Amino acid sequence: MTYRVIQFSTGNVGQHSLRHIIEHPDLELVGVHASSPAKVGRDAAELCGMSEPTGITATDDLKALLDLGADCVVYTSQGETRGPGALDEITAFLRAGTNVVASSMVWLVNPDAADKWLRDPLEAACLEGGSTMYVNGIDPGFSGDMLPFAALSLCQSATSVLVQEVFDYGSYDDAEFTGVSFGFGLTPEQDPPVMFLPGVLRSIWGGPVAHLAECLGVELDELRERHETWVTPTVIECTMMRVEPGQVAAVRFAVEGIKDGEPVIVMEHVNRLTQAAAPDWPYPPDGRGGVHRVVVTGRPGVEINAHVGSGDLDQNDGGVIATAAKVVNAVAAVCAARPGLVALRDLPIDQVHGLMR
Ligand SMILES: NC(=O)c1ccc[n+]([C@@H]2O[C@H](COP(=O)([O-])OP(=O)(O)OC[C@H]3O[C@@H](n4cnc5c(N)ncnc54)[C@H](OP(=O)(O)O)[C@@H]3O)[C@@H](O)[C@H]2O)c1
Repeated sequence: MTYRVIQFSTGNVGQHSLRHIIEHPDLELVGVHASSPAKVGRDAAELCGMSEPTGITATDDLKALLDLGADCVVYTSQGETRGPGALDEITAFLRAGTNVVASSMVWLVNPDAADKWLRDPLEAACLEGGSTMYVNGIDPGFSGDMLPFAALSLCQSATSVLVQEVFDYGSYDDAEFTGVSFGFGLTPEQDPPVMFLPGVLRSIWGGPVAHLAECLGVELDELRERHETWVTPTVIECTMMRVEPGQVAAVRFAVEGIKDGEPVIVMEHVNRLTQAAAPDWPYPPDGRGGVHRVVVTGRPGVEINAHVGSGDLDQNDGGVIATAAKVVNAVAAVCAARPGLVALRDLPIDQVHGLMR
């Protein structure tokens, strides 16, 4: 079966999901949304670095895209910093009966844990359109669901689960969102960045912790947040910014699921702007630039280190390509799923289709 698919946005993630849709044997690209006037009217191929024109040109006309009656939209437009606008766009597709897979709105990786302002209108739109919405990515997403599920499938018993993203963001071109929200380049005296305001870490990674606890049949007593920052003594030049001495060049934070006073399910990030930053914090193995890791203690105890990017492709490009793939690969499963907001536990495994030479 061929699914008729719209790609919504062509940013960091969107250009890769667009390419994936064009190349996918079971997907037909029928529309592309771009908000930037510089992109409107250009062929989809051009917007994702492919040479063969597709005949599908980018538009900022939401109604024209709704009228296509597509099976699914891959929504990768910036969601967190423009919540109400993104919500309007997504609910319009759901109401029209077009399913949505998204990397945006990361609060919805576990929809049961999302706030009412987000969940209620989306659920109502799914009900009205008989449509389904699924949000995932590499982190939050794969590292906190598929990766621990793989590790836990090898266990006779488990006592704790630690999920980590340990990544050098030095080559990551995302100053506007990651740079600002993680507080890179701030001094410790300045107001904390949005990510470290009380409740924000929990709103993003608390859902995945709760999803894993529920799948394990564990009743957590509470979720706790922790964070710390590392200030550079020397200038750091990297893709997203220049960091002056005395400014933050690495962050470490976590959401901990607590049971009987102990952290039993922990999702932690260690993100540095170059390998020299925060030398006392964990590094990926084998000198790699990044890792998504799960460590399950128990019998026999399992550790899986997942690395995206190989050859000339670095970990940050690998991360956005993988995030795009995680949702594009789910299109068929989401189109077949029950109407409503779904999580990984509601879907059969999504994966690449076929092998390419
Ligand atoms: N879970 C994960 O692992 C993971 C990983 C990476 C990203 N994400 C999420 O995926 C989403 C996309 O990330 P990204 O890095 O691709 O973002 P991005 O490049 O910063 O932005 C994506 C696109 O959003 C559109 N956009 C931005 N500001 C807009 C505005 N004010 N009005 C209308 N459209 C606007 C632009 O679309 P046009 O191209 O149409 O002009 C832009 O290219 C984000 O919500 C992010 O949190 C999740």
